[in-house]
Amino acid sequence: MRIFSGIQPTGQKHLGNYIGAIVQYVASQERGEGIFCIVDLHAITVPFDPAELRERGYDTAAILLAAGLDPERCTLFRQSDVPEHTELTWLLSSVTELGRLQRMHQFRDKSFGQRELVSAALLLYPVLQAADVLAYRASEVPVGEDQREHLELMRDAARRFNARFGDGDEVLVVPEHRIPQVGARIMDLQDPTRKMSTTGGSPQGTVFVLDEPAAIGKKLRGAVTDSGSEVCRAPEKPGVSNLIEILAAVRGVEPAAVEAEFASAGYGEFKAAVAGAVVDYLAPVRERYLQLRADETALEAILEDGARRAHEMAHATMLDVRKRMGLGAPRRDRALR
Ligand code: TYM
Repeated sequence: MRIFSGIQPTGQKHLGNYIGAIVQYVASQERGEGIFCIVDLHAITVPFDPAELRERGYDTAAILLAAGLDPERCTLFRQSDVPEHTELTWLLSSVTELGRLQRMHQFRDKSFGQRELVSAALLLYPVLQAADVLAYRASEVPVGEDQREHLELMRDAARRFNARFGDGDEVLVVPEHRIPQVGARIMDLQDPTRKMSTTGGSPQGTVFVLDEPAAIGKKLRGAVTDSGSEVCRAPEKPGVSNLIEILAAVRGVEPAAVEAEFASAGYGEFKAAVAGAVVDYLAPVRERYLQLRADETALEAILEDGARRAHEMAHATMLDVRKRMGLGAPRRDRALR
C-alpha cells in the first residue's frame, strides 16, 4: 500500500504538526510504502524569500529524519525536484470547478488576510495538493483535521478524472485520509479556540519542535486553563481538553486514562506533568535535528535520491494520464527525463 503525505518547508514546525501528522508518517513506514514530500511549490503561493525557502526545506528534511523517517524504508523528497507535480496540476485543473476553489476555507482565510498580491497559485493550491497524491496512486494520506477539505477535493478530482477519461478503469486512485483519533487538532495554548498554527497562532501559545526545553516547559506551564478545577474534557473547557489530548498523544494512551490519572489533581500539578512529558518527548528530536541539520550535503543526497525514486513512480502514472487525455505523441512512451 502506498502512503503519501506532504508538509510545508519551515523550521517552525509545531507540536500540532508533530502529533497530528509527523508521528503518523513515521508509523506508516511499518504499514506500507511511505512517500513524503516537502512541498516547496506550495510555499510560493504566499510571499516568500528564495534563499530562505531553500534553507527551510533542509530544516524540514532534518526535522522529519530526526522524528524517525528512514530514507532506507521510505521516499523523502522535495516537490520541485519532480516536474510531474506541476504537470498533473494543470491537467487536473481542467476537471476542477473554479467556484469550488474560491469557496475553500484556506483560500478565503489566506486571501482575506493577505495585504500583498493574492496569487492565482493560492487558488490552485488544492489542485497541486491533489496532484501530489494522485501522481503516486497512493491509497492513504495521513494528515491532521485541517486537511479534510483538501482531501475531499482530491478525492473528487480523482473520481472526475476517472469518470471523464478512465473508460471504466481507476486510472487515478481515490485516496482515503488517515486522521488520528487523538491529536488531530492541537489548539493554541493561549487561545484554545484556535488551532495551533505557524502563521495564525500566538508565539507563547505555540510549542515549536525546535524550541529549547526550557521554553517548551514555560509555554505549557503558562497554558490558559478554564474555570473550575477538574481535569476533564468538556466543551466549556477547551484549554484543559487540549492539554489532555496533548498528554494522551505524547504518551500514546487514551484521553480517558489521563483524566483518570489526574482526577484528584489541580491544574498546576497537571500542567507541570504535561510540560515534563512534552519536554522529554521533543528533546531527543531536537538533539538529532541539530546533528542532521549540520550536514547539508548529506541532506541534499537523501532528497536527491528520494526525488529519483519519486520521479520514476510519478512518471509511470503520467504516461497513462497523458495517453488517456489524448496528449503527447501517440504510442510513444517518453523515456524518463
Ligand atoms: P502543513 O505543512 O501546514 O501541515 C503539516 C501537517 O500538520 C497537520 N497540522 C496539524 N495537526 C494537528 N493539529 C494542528 N494544530 C495542526 N496544524 C497542522 C496538517 O494537517 C498537516 O497534515 N497542505 C498541506 C501540505 C500538503 C499535503 C499534500 C498534505 C501539500 N500536499 C498532499 C497531504 C497530502 C499543509 O499545508 O500542511
